[in-house]
Amino acid sequence: MVALLTKTTSKDLKITDKDFVQLRDFIYDQSGIYIAENRKYLLENRLANRLKTLELKTFGEYCYYLRFDAGKREELKRLFEVITTNETSFFRNPPQLKVFENIILKKLIEELRSKRQKKIRIWSAGCSSGEEPYTLSIILHELLRKEIASWDIRINANDLSENVLKSAQKGIYSDYALRTTPKAIVSSYFTKNEIGRYEIKPEVKRLVSFGPINLNDRMQLKRVERSHIVFCRNVIIYFDEDMKKRVVSSFYDNLLPGGYLFIGHSESLHNISRVFKPTHHPGSIVYVKEG
Ligand SMILES: C[S@@+](CC[C@H](N)C(=O)[O-])C[C@H]1O[C@@H](n2cnc3c(N)ncnc32)[C@H](O)[C@@H]1O
Repeated sequence: MVALLTKTTSKDLKITDKDFVQLRDFIYDQSGIYIAENRKYLLENRLANRLKTLELKTFGEYCYYLRFDAGKREELKRLFEVITTNETSFFRNPPQLKVFENIILKKLIEELRSKRQKKIRIWSAGCSSGEEPYTLSIILHELLRKEIASWDIRINANDLSENVLKSAQKGIYSDYALRTTPKAIVSSYFTKNEIGRYEIKPEVKRLVSFGPINLNDRMQLKRVERSHIVFCRNVIIYFDEDMKKRVVSSFYDNLLPGGYLFIGHSESLHNISRVFKPTHHPGSIVYVKEG
């Protein structure tokens, strides 16, 4: 009875300032994600049950586990699931996608057609559960129509979280994921299954290749095939300035001369990089690697 009364619940687990700094720095070293002081509660709430399961009494012990335990690799993956924010949707930020479709992609397609090089590579870095790269694939289908069969197109889509990549590969979505998608697009590129979920059609899937990546690992970034266009939207917002600089510089190296970088509409390269030329369009800035 006494034991029952004194039993701690996962809610009682508080993170000390010292342990928070230790865990925050560990997360930063591993992923480049910077957890600010005011998000301390997030670690406390989201990890408390995990500590219970592992029978650890403090967050300091958890840090030790992450560094030295035989299960540290698996635990790191779990930690990545906890610290990443995977919010996304199809056709997110329509004005920016209009610029992508009507200005950038049209121009690129014309240039490549005239050079008889019908090959396009796009990198969706931080692709979450696939809505962004599949949206890009749909837009390419809309623009090229039947001609798409004669093009060699690949969208390389990566994320740190293995869970989101698994669901991206399945390609099955709720109507919430399609809330900003035009109805005509939904009926052309999705099949509604018997339980009311939407399955992306194989021709859209075919252009997208998913794989894990840690944007904090320069060697992994170097191995990504060179791209005409990089999308990294709503990802660098979670990084500190130093990490933003490193990641954006990797995108610059990855892009082919004349290539384009799209970032989220609330993000900016101000103070981060001066090598890109910002070009202003209605509703969007596109960063160009001058060739
Ligand atoms: C908010 S989502 C953005 C998804 C999509 N780009 C969009 O704009 O809708 C951010 C994604 O970045 C991923 N991410 C965060 N840190 C990362 C890192 N170091 N390496 C790779 N992906 C990372 C997260 O796992 C998450 O899926």
